Formats: sequence, structure tokens, C-alpha cells
Amino acid sequence: MAYTIDVHLSPEEVRNQMRADALQGLQGDTKSIPPVWFYDERGSRLFEEITQLPEYYPTRAERALLEAHAAAIAGLSKADTLVELGAGACDKTRVLLTALEQAGVLTRYVPFDVSDEFLRSAATTLSQEYEALDIHLVIGDFHQHLAQIPSDGRRMVAFLGGTIGNLDPAQRARFLFDLNCTMSSEDSLLLGTDLVKDPGRLVAAYDDAAGVTADFNRNVLHVLNEQLGADFDPDNFRHVALWNEEHQWIEMRLRAEGAAEVSLAGAGITVRFDEGEDLLTEISAKFTPERVERELSDAGFVVEEMWGAEDGEFLLSLAHPYC
Ligand code: SAH
Ligand code: TRP
Repeated sequence: MAYTIDVHLSPEEVRNQMRADALQGLQGDTKSIPPVWFYDERGSRLFEEITQLPEYYPTRAERALLEAHAAAIAGLSKADTLVELGAGACDKTRVLLTALEQAGVLTRYVPFDVSDEFLRSAATTLSQEYEALDIHLVIGDFHQHLAQIPSDGRRMVAFLGGTIGNLDPAQRARFLFDLNCTMSSEDSLLLGTDLVKDPGRLVAAYDDAAGVTADFNRNVLHVLNEQLGADFDPDNFRHVALWNEEHQWIEMRLRAEGAAEVSLAGAGITVRFDEGEDLLTEISAKFTPERVERELSDAGFVVEEMWGAEDGEFLLSLAHPYC
């Protein structure tokens, strides 16, 4: 085998967690479901398509920053292990892996993701390109399994794609604090965050003309149908992306076009949607460099360097734990 793998989330545990999330998120006055459930294999493939859309600038902006600064990042981090949270297709990662290899210290890559099959196939391809690299996959939920990630060696933990913006402020504080607790003072964190900009551009990035994001958003209903025996009619739900000025985040919603009664047999509940009622599926928070610095500092990190803070598109921050 070209890689080793630790699985901390079995298919049963996925279903149990999803059932708990459905019971909690679908029965109240405002309905929501956590974004982690977008990413079955189809969802992961749709997200890959999103990253290539003309409207979706974050991936290109982050890649450009990585290409310009990977050598500096590698030199500062001196990491022998690259850990990547929410690695997905591990695509932009190649820029970091190559720079860290050229810096002469890298021996191991540890991609961490909830999307099991998709990560395995990405890792298979990667192992052919980086033959000398020890590739160690970890399947888990970054709200639960950070402590299970190998912690030996000098690590750089990369969390790219603006995925941290998909957590609400309380979840982010908790996540960064928990992560900090698993890191030594030699380790570093490379964080990618999208920046606040013209709302028109922001909304377009989450509501593309080709409708790929709409399909991605509705995919969560297919996942619930499959995993929890639900009977959502995805065609009855319209994709809505809006900019929440107060909270500085994009909200992704699914709006019921007609009233509906949905049974989730696997969770033992029936859920009623009024016509026009929304299901909140995701937020994507946008940051200022000052806010990133404050949140990192509140969680016990010192920012060593930021890239992209001036031109305002996207931000990469390299930080390490105090102490
Ligand atoms: N890093 C890639 C992918 C970003 S999409 C990029 O920058 O393009 C977000 C990734 O995080 C997906 O691969 C998804 O499967 C993963 N993910 C989302 N929620 C997660 C969670 N709670 N635990 C672990 N992985 C998660
Ligand atoms: N991390 C990505 C982001 O916030 C995830 C994402 C991109 C996304 N487009 C989406 C999530 C559309 C839901 C719907 O930019």
C-alpha cells in the first residue's frame, strides 16, 4: 500500500453523528444542518468543480499566495511533517510539499479529512508523485479527533481553503484552542482565510452562473436521503446565497419552494417545511487581517508572518503556539 491510514470515523459513527445533528438541527424554529455532511464522494467532486469556476476566486487567490511564498513558509516552519486539515483533493498542497522537500527536511505528509474514499484516491495519486514521502491518512472530524493526529516530529499544520470560515465564532475559538493544545512550540499553523470584499463578488462566488454551487448545496439532501432514509425532494429546494453584513459571513441556505413534510426514517422524525422556509446549510465567514490575528492570539498563537494582507483578496497566516 502506498500510504497508511487511521480511521476514527466508521460509517456507523458517521450515521450516528448525522442522526444527532438532524435531531438537533431540524426540529427547532430555525432549521440548520452542519456543513460537514456536504462531503460524501459526490460532494467532494462537486467542490472540486467549484474550485475551477470563474466566480470562485478563493482557490486561485490562495494558490497564487502559496506559489509566491511557499519557499519562505518552508524556511520559517522547518517542518519534517506537513499535517493538512480538511485536505480534500490535496491539490494546492503540492506547492507546499515541493517547497518543504526542497528545503530538505520533509519526511511525512498527514492529510486529515472526513471524506474517506475521496482522500484515499487523492493520496494514491500523490504517492506516485512523491515517492520518498511517508503518507499517513487520518479519517476523522476536526471537531473531535485533533488529538488523534500523530504529534511527533516538527509539524506544520495547514488549514487552507478558508474552511475555518465555515465554523461559527464560538466553534472557531474552541477549534483553535483545541488545536493549540495538541501543538508543541516547535510546530506551526498555516491558516488560509478569505478576506472581506465587495459583497457582489462574494455572493457570486457562492452562487455561480452554471449552478454547480446550487448542486453542491442540495447534495446535503441527497446525503440525508441516503444515510438516514430521508425523503427530501431536492428539486423542491432552491439554493440561496446571501451576505450577512452584521456577521460578515456568507450564508448558504436551501429554501423550500413549496410546503413539504419530510420523513427521516433513520432518525425517527418527520419535519415540516413551510413554503419559503429556509434550511441553513453553511456560513463562510470573511475576515480582516486584524480579526485573524486577534482570534489566533485569543487561542494562544503568535502570528509570525502574514501574506496577502495588503492586496485584500485572501490571507495566509503562519503562527505558532506561545510558550
Ligand atoms: N483544502 C481543500 C478543500 C476545502 S473543502 C481546498 O482548500 O480546496 C473543505 C474540506 O474539509 C473538505 O475536503 C471536507 O471533506 C473537509 N471537512 C469539512 N468538515 C470537516 C470536519 N468536520 N472534519 C474533517 N474534515 C472536514
Ligand atoms: N470552504 C469553502 C468556502 O467557504 C466551502 C465552500 C465553497 C462552500 N463554496 C461553497 C460550501 C458552497 C457550501 C456551498 O469557501
